[in-house]
Amino acid sequence: MDIAAHQTALIAAARAAREQAHAPYSRFAVGAAVLDEQGRIHAGCNVENAAYPQGWCAEASALSAMVMAGGKQALAVAVCAVAPQPVTPCGGCRQKLREFAADGCPVWAADLNGWRATYTLGGLLPHSFGPDHLPT
Ligand code: THU
Repeated sequence: MDIAAHQTALIAAARAAREQAHAPYSRFAVGAAVLDEQGRIHAGCNVENAAYPQGWCAEASALSAMVMAGGKQALAVAVCAVAPQPVTPCGGCRQKLREFAADGCPVWAADLNGWRATYTLGGLLPHSFGPDHLPT
């Protein structure tokens, strides 16, 4: 699959998902989207909670949507948020992504103007623990 060809659509999906963010406490709206192995896009937003630690990130929502749709692999990830620096997935979400993505998986950071920066999951989470470490 030509993953780069999906960049614009993936970022657009992350941006649209950001509009749905439930972030009344931080006021920091985030949208994320993942491209699955079938070329489908799954998006999600952050969902905060009055019991603060119970909230979850946009990346977790997007992965949940992918799993529910039967997606098995994340081939690319887009994150959309408005901040002084490009927004990358938090540490916990890097590990969540690792479950479904290879080291080379591109992570595209975007804001309302579109693409800002490109990372790889392996760059964001080097020497990671993953499914292959567990006995089958
Ligand atoms: N957040 C995400 O949803 N994804 C990220 O990549 C960074 C942080 C959320 C969590 C919380 O709802 C808000 O942004 C502020 O941390």
